[in-house]
Amino acid sequence: MKKIVVTGGLGFIGSHTVVELQNSGFEVIIIDNLSNSTISVLDGIVSITGQIPTFYNTDLKQKADVEAFFKGHNDIAGVIHFAASKAVGESVNEPLLYYENNINTLVYMLQNTTQLAHAPFIFSSSCTVYGEAKALPISETSPIQPALSPYGNTKQIGEDIISDVCKANTNFNAIALRYFNPIGSHESAKIGELPLGVPQNLVPFIMQTGAGIREQLSVFGDTYATQDGTCIRDYIHVVDLAKAHVIALKRLIDGENTTNYEVFNLGTGQGSSVLEVIKSFERVSNQSLNYKIVDKREGDVVAAYANTTKAKDVLKWTAQSSLDDAMRSAWKWQQQLK
Ligand code: WQD
Repeated sequence: MKKIVVTGGLGFIGSHTVVELQNSGFEVIIIDNLSNSTISVLDGIVSITGQIPTFYNTDLKQKADVEAFFKGHNDIAGVIHFAASKAVGESVNEPLLYYENNINTLVYMLQNTTQLAHAPFIFSSSCTVYGEAKALPISETSPIQPALSPYGNTKQIGEDIISDVCKANTNFNAIALRYFNPIGSHESAKIGELPLGVPQNLVPFIMQTGAGIREQLSVFGDTYATQDGTCIRDYIHVVDLAKAHVIALKRLIDGENTTNYEVFNLGTGQGSSVLEVIKSFERVSNQSLNYKIVDKREGDVVAAYANTTKAKDVLKWTAQSSLDDAMRSAWKWQQQLK
């Protein structure tokens, strides 16, 4: 069995990707320092696949620890690097935390992965690199705009680092996957999104409001130049996203790539407004949601949704789940949380 290292493998997208890797016959080694996840996610993964990933609670900010890990693992067939901090607002207040955690760790992972015989590298990037895109839907050639937050900047810098490493080392193959808005949970409701503290993102806040944990959802503005005045995003089911990672990894392992650094947008191609997402929740939960319109949130783009042509044509991948499917799965997960 080919061994794949998944950093941040106990996180939201990471854990769903571990399941799909195991379902595809890979042996998985998870590295996660549990800074934004809990060890119980490991049990959730095992309860779905029956396969126990090897787990290392290693802090990737410690260069020596990263080197020690790779010293004991020279038979790795690929790396999927999720481990990073991802709260936009927090990054504005704590930029150095984000540059240390998102950039240093990437450099240490790359220094070691490039020493392996042939280990492709998949990088977790984000549509946030496009900022407020001039043209919609957003394609991979859409201009990269000045980052709106240190978090977004770490994704842009991360892509530049990987691109430079690939230019310098033609034997090293990498793919950056730019996610739109990942939501939902595995159909088993054994794993899902576990926001720590007050959820910053829309869907987990909706779910906690629906469950009575939060009093009311604040909708950040309804005077945008959109159909109903609220912002538009491309909400993609996390399992669709996870499956795209396995396809991208196999593409590099099987040598199907034509250049050694490729970038793909991962979205559904459908834009949904905040109010449409609320309506979706009300449909799938058969209950009304308590929300109010408040001021706009600093840094929000008006609309972002993916041009999915490249992933469809090159990766032969398209998202299969609808917004309602994703919201239904997220609600099922929320309802089983204690
Ligand atoms: C979506 C919409 C809000 C919360 C961010 C990151 C992105 C990725 C996903 C990591 C916006 C509105 C939200 C709330 C609201 N993260 N909203 N009330 O900002 O599109 O993307 O998370 O990879 O990189 O930038 O997602 O879910 O925060 O917001 O009205 O309580 O919901 O204004 O229009 P966003 P989000």
